[in-house]
Amino acid sequence: MTPLHLHPDSEGGRVEAPVGRTPTGRERLTTRTLRAGVHLVFGTRSWVRRNLEQFVEGMTGKRILEIGSGRQDLGRDAYSFRELFDASNEFVQSDVVPEYGHQLVDVRDIGLEDAYDVILCLYVLEHVFEVEEAVRSMHRALAPGGTLVVAVPHLYPYHDEPTDYWRFTDHALRQLLRPFGSVEIRVRGPRKMPIALLAFATKAHGG
Ligand SMILES: C[S@@+](CC[C@H](N)C(=O)[O-])C[C@H]1O[C@@H](n2cnc3c(N)ncnc32)[C@H](O)[C@@H]1O
Repeated sequence: MTPLHLHPDSEGGRVEAPVGRTPTGRERLTTRTLRAGVHLVFGTRSWVRRNLEQFVEGMTGKRILEIGSGRQDLGRDAYSFRELFDASNEFVQSDVVPEYGHQLVDVRDIGLEDAYDVILCLYVLEHVFEVEEAVRSMHRALAPGGTLVVAVPHLYPYHDEPTDYWRFTDHALRQLLRPFGSVEIRVRGPRKMPIALLAFATKAHGG
């Protein structure tokens, strides 16, 4: 997988180029502006944040794995939700791209069993072609009674190409999350034309 940055071209447009060098100030500004614009229009990040704030209220002493914690060139937590969690929790930031500087974890093969109380997989599954493998791997890595939080876009621009593979309906999400004991799905936007979906899936005891 070749990770991409958006870079401005000489005509004021945008070109994509592999990561691997420090972006210039202008490139950073362009990326920041584009990202802020998309988040402003679609509100997907602030919506997840609000839902997570409720979810983490009073949460202490838990083991949390964040999948796809993202790039750090705009700040350590620019793409991560780590700051929402109380410091008594053990919070592991991870990504499949070594250059991002997090613990190296491929969601398709986490390789752990019953290891985490919470797994966050926020705006990652649309970039994973083997999506069922990913869900099975996260189910294995969660402790019984643990919660998987998944956010996926629906009506949302292509991003991080060429690894933008999927858009999900709530029906697909329910099917994907069928290994879990209980699943609650929240929708951003109209139910039949959502912008994004957020699922809280709990692993059954003995499941
Ligand atoms: C659109 S970004 C989302 C970043 C962040 N979670 C957020 O909500 O802003 C997708 C992230 O998923 C990561 N990713 C893609 N495929 C992955 C895989 N197989 N395993 C783990 N992370 C993956 C990418 O490297 C990228 O950091």
